[in-house]
Amino acid sequence: MNAQTSTAVRGHVVTVVGDPFLNGDEAVLVEHTDGIVVVEDGVITAVGPYAELRSTLPADLAVDHYPGAIISAGFVDTHVHYVQTGIIAAFGAQLIDWLNEYTFVEEQRFADRAHADRVARVFFDQLLANGTTTALTFCAVYPASVDAFFAEAQRRNMLMIGGKVLMDRNAPAGLLDTAERGYDESKALIERWHEVGRSRYAITPRFAPTSSEAQLEAAATLHREHPTTLVQTHVSENTGEIAWVRSLFPDRAGYLDVYDNAGLLGPGTVLAHGVHLTAAERIRCSETGTAVSHCPTSNLFLGSGLFHIHQAKSGRHPLTVGLGTDIGAGTSFSLLSTMNEAYKVAQMTQYPLDAIKMFYLATLGGAEALGLADRIGSIEVGKDADLVVLDAAATDLLRFRQETVDSLEEQLFVLSVMADDRTVAATYVAGALAHVRDGERHDGATAPTTR
Ligand code: GUN
Ligand code: ZN
Repeated sequence: MNAQTSTAVRGHVVTVVGDPFLNGDEAVLVEHTDGIVVVEDGVITAVGPYAELRSTLPADLAVDHYPGAIISAGFVDTHVHYVQTGIIAAFGAQLIDWLNEYTFVEEQRFADRAHADRVARVFFDQLLANGTTTALTFCAVYPASVDAFFAEAQRRNMLMIGGKVLMDRNAPAGLLDTAERGYDESKALIERWHEVGRSRYAITPRFAPTSSEAQLEAAATLHREHPTTLVQTHVSENTGEIAWVRSLFPDRAGYLDVYDNAGLLGPGTVLAHGVHLTAAERIRCSETGTAVSHCPTSNLFLGSGLFHIHQAKSGRHPLTVGLGTDIGAGTSFSLLSTMNEAYKVAQMTQYPLDAIKMFYLATLGGAEALGLADRIGSIEVGKDADLVVLDAAATDLLRFRQETVDSLEEQLFVLSVMADDRTVAATYVAGALAHVRDGERHDGATAPTTR
C-alpha cells in the first residue's frame, strides 16, 4: 500500500505552481518535456529534466517511463457525495425535488454498512480511474457510512476528506439527527479518523434548510474545538433554495449570513456552488478565507445557473475556488470533463477560461481551497507524490487532433475539452501505482516501461 522505497515517474511533467488568475499563466506553469519525478516514501524528492537529474539517480531506481504522456499532479475534487454514486443521471428534477425524490431515498440505504462498503469501493475505483487523488466528500447521516468511507481511503493510502452529514429538519425522519446527537457522532468520528494516516475530517452540515440554527452553531463549536478539521456545506445553488432559506431564517441578511452568524465561515470552509452569491457575499467569503467549489456539470444538470468564474477570481476580493464534480447531481467523476463544462459555463458568462487556469482549478486551486497546498496540488519537492499520467493520444480522434496542436497550452485545452477517463493512463497515490488503464497493464503503448 505505502511506497516505502524510492521510485520515479518519467514523462512530460506539467504542473501549475501558483494562481494564474492572480499571477498570469506564464508565471505559474512549469513543464519539463522529458522530465522525471523522483519519490521517496511517498514524497517528491526531486523533479526536473531527466537529462539533468539522470546522473544523480541510483542505478537501481525503478523508473516508470511514459514517453510523451503528460504527468500532472493528481486531480482534486472539492465537492462530491460518495453516497450518491448510485443516483447519477436521475431524470427531470431541480434541486429541492431532486433531493426529495432521489437523494434522500438513496441515502437511507447507507444505514447498512455492507451497502456503504460496496459503494465506497465503487467510488474510490472511479476516483482513481479518473485521476482524482483527493476529494472533499459528503457521506450520509449514518456514522457507519463514514467508517466505510475512511476504511476504504486508508486501504488505498489516499489523502481523503469526508464527514457525516448533519440534518435535524426538513428531511425524512430516518435521515435526521439532532443538534446534540450530530455533534456527539461527529466528535466521535473526528477522534476515530481525523489525521489518522492521510485522512482528514470535514464537519458537514448539509445546507441551511436542513439544519436548525442550534445545529449550525454546534457544528461551529465542534470546528473551533478541532480547528484542523474542515467544514463543508452548500450555498446559493438554486434560486428556490435561496428563497426557502430567507423564509427559514428571516432575521439573517441572506443565505451566506446564516453560516456567518453561526460562526462557520473561515479558512478550511468549502461552500459548494455559490452560483448566486451576491457581490457583498463574495467579498465576505474573500475576507474570511472561505472557499467555493465550482461544480459546473451539476449546475447544468439541475438547471441551477451559471457560476461566474471571472467575477469570483478577479477584482480586489478574489475567492479561493476549486472544481467539484458534485456526484450525483454532477454527471461525471472526471475533472477533465468538469473542466470541459467549466469552459462552456464561462463562455456563457463571456469569459474565455483557458487551459492553464482550468488545470490550476482542478489541482492546486482545489488544494488551496482545502488548505492542503503544502501537501498536494502540484509537482514540487516536499509534496506528496499523488500523480496522474495523461495519454494525449488516448483515442483515435485525440490522436488525430494532436497532429495540429502546436503548443502545450493548446494540447492541455484539447485535453480539457475532449478527454475523459480513457485519457488517464495511470494514477499514483503517494508514489505507488494505484490505477492502470484497463488492458494496458502489460503491452499498451502508454503502460510504463522501465527507464
Ligand atoms: N444541497 C443540499 N444537499 C445537496 C446535494 O446533495 N446535492 C446538491 N447538488 N445540492 C445540495
Ligand atoms: Zn453537493
